[in-house]
Parts: sequence; C-alpha cells; structure tokens
Amino acid sequence: MYCVRKVDEDLYWVGGNDHRLALFENMHPLPKGISYNSYILLDEKTVLFDTADWAICRQFLENIKAVLNGRTLDYMVINHVEPDHAASLEEIMLRYPGVKIICTKKAAVFMKQFGFHIDGKVIEVKEGDTKSFGKHNVEFITAPMVHWPEVMVTYDTTNGVLFSADAFGSFGALDGKLFNDEVNFDRDWIADARRYYTNIVGKYGPNVQALLKKASKLDIKTICPLHGLVWRNNLGYYLEKYDKWSSYEPEEKGVMIVYGSMYGNTESAANNLATRLVEKGMNNVVMYDVSKTHLSHLIAETFRYSHVVLACVTYNMKIYPPMLSYIMDMKALNLQNRTIAILENGSWAPQSGKLMRELVGEMKNMTILDKEVSIRSSMKESDINLMNELSDNIINSMK
Ligand code: FEO
Repeated sequence: MYCVRKVDEDLYWVGGNDHRLALFENMHPLPKGISYNSYILLDEKTVLFDTADWAICRQFLENIKAVLNGRTLDYMVINHVEPDHAASLEEIMLRYPGVKIICTKKAAVFMKQFGFHIDGKVIEVKEGDTKSFGKHNVEFITAPMVHWPEVMVTYDTTNGVLFSADAFGSFGALDGKLFNDEVNFDRDWIADARRYYTNIVGKYGPNVQALLKKASKLDIKTICPLHGLVWRNNLGYYLEKYDKWSSYEPEEKGVMIVYGSMYGNTESAANNLATRLVEKGMNNVVMYDVSKTHLSHLIAETFRYSHVVLACVTYNMKIYPPMLSYIMDMKALNLQNRTIAILENGSWAPQSGKLMRELVGEMKNMTILDKEVSIRSSMKESDINLMNELSDNIINSMK
C-alpha cells in the first residue's frame, strides 16, 4: 500500500522508512531506524527529487505510482549518488523509460561507476544553472563534499523549497511524522540528528560552511533533506546547530569524561574526578565507558561538549585500543577547538598519557591542559592533591 505525504502545493514526499537496518553504512547503530526521503513535484512536467535505498524500493515504487496517478515521470533530479539514495535509480529508468536525469557531471561519472546505464539520459548541470518545470523554476547549487564530491542541492525559487541532499538530515525513521513541528525535536530527535551529522558529514565542516553561506542568500521556506524530518518553520534553530557543528564550536560548556578501564580502577579514578568537578560547581559532566559506548555516540557527544577528559589505562605499552580507536576517529573527523585533560593509568610503565598527548597534539586547535594525573594501578590518597589540581585546572580553563 502506498504511503505518501503532501509537503507543499504540488510537492509530495514519496520516500520510505527502514526499521530493520541495524547499522547505517554497516557501522553506525540505528536504534530508531532511518528514513530515505524522496519527493515528487507535479507541475507541467513531473519531477522526482532523488531516489531511495534498495531496501525500501518496493514501497518507494508504489508511492511514486500513486502520486503520479497515471502520469509518466519526466525528470529525476539526482542531488546525491550514494547508494542509500541512488540504488533505485535504474529501477525508475526501467519503469519510466522516457525519464531524463538532471545531475552534476561528477554524479554521472559515479552513476556509471555503480553500473547504471544512463547514456543519452543525462542533462548535466553546474553551479547556478536553472530549469523550469512549468510553474516551478529551480536553481542548482553545487555542494561538493556535503557529503560526496558530486553533491548539489536544488532550490525551488517558486516556493522556497530547498532539496538539501544529506545536509540537515538525521538518523531515525519518521513513524508517520514528517515535519519538524510534528515532533518534540529537542526531546526525541536532536541526539540522532547530531550523531548523523557529526559521524557522516562531520569531517567536511568547511564544505558545510560554504553551503550555509550560499543558503544564507536564499529565501528558504522549507528544507527537504534526504533523511529525517522536513523543516517548514523554525529553520534558524537547525541552521544554528549546523553552523556550530560545521565550525567545530562546542554546543555546551561541559566536561565529557571518556574512560578506558580494564578492571575498574581507571573508572574509579574517573569517577573521583567527576565528583570533584561537580562539587566545585561544574554540574554538566557526563561519563562514557569507551569500551561499551559506540564510537558514533562518543563522536556526537564530543562535538557537543567543550571539554574532554581522556582517562586511559596503558595496554601493551600503548593506548588502550578502544581509546585509540576513539581518538583516531576524532582526528579523522577533523574535530577541533576542544580543551583536553589527561588521566593515565599503568601498573609498571604508564605510557598512555604521553601517547594520547602526542596524538591529540596532531589535531587542530586543541588545548591540552598541562596538569595531568598519572596513577599506578589504582588511585590512592597520595593522588588526591593531583586530582584536585586537575579538576581546578579544568574549571579555570572554562572561565
Ligand atoms: Fe544519505 Fe551521503 O548519503
């Protein structure tokens, strides 16, 4: 059975939801599922904006057929070729053989690489090109590396709708709701939106900043992303989040303590530090066990907080592997502008502090606090002074 929603006059959401997929990109957990959004414009010409993942193709095809209601499909605007959106592209071409594909030159190259037979079907567009579908005129705006190099966004100058590709997307299936004003975003969506942005697009902050600059010149009334909610009001709220995330500015003044602990002794020391911070008035403290918290959550939280404490046992004379993996991911995603404190543990030759300091030192604009606590196997009375100094140091660095 088809399941569609009207977005605006002439415009319909025809995507689908997947609650079955456990891991997005076979990597990031999806406890609330994911949506693959696609939109159809019914004008003098009919236009599909992006396709969908193969997993929901059957639903997607039913939705298209229902909205077209006997009409054929004239155009497909492909803003992004990653298979979670473009996998169903050839299926659409088979069912609507007259359809023309509008995309960037790079997108056409990628389509061929993925094995799609598109010869004679493609209308290549570049930055600033326009196209009229009847009443609706659109402008194509390139957005390279948000999140792949071929990406563009499409702006409907007639009604102010921006088809934003991966930008402004989120993890989470829609569960019947489509618009931002149909949900409690701060309660139910922000964590997954942040986790989506930071892990999927986080590395490309400067490219997102470039897109935000272009977007600021448009009179955008509605944002239609390829995942998650359609934004039809309060756009400033989400644009501000994107501005913060893409400029690597923390959302909150607070301390995230990430600890790697084999037998609980490093965890105990981390708890001691957290307690001291709270007793001294810094209540915004969160603790995460690096061994059992998925990297995607750690990364999202690291984008959120201003201060990060890395508390880590020494393992085989190196950084405890789950902690190493976390720091390397932070580095890969270009995370910047954080204040880092270090707490190390080791029974005979503590090394993790020095190694973590070196690794974080390779990242941009990171402030590593001089005070460092090094414990031998477990925290003792004799470590209290150093722990106090570290907590003071963290709090002073927030002023
Ligand atoms: Fe949702 Fe970059 O694809």
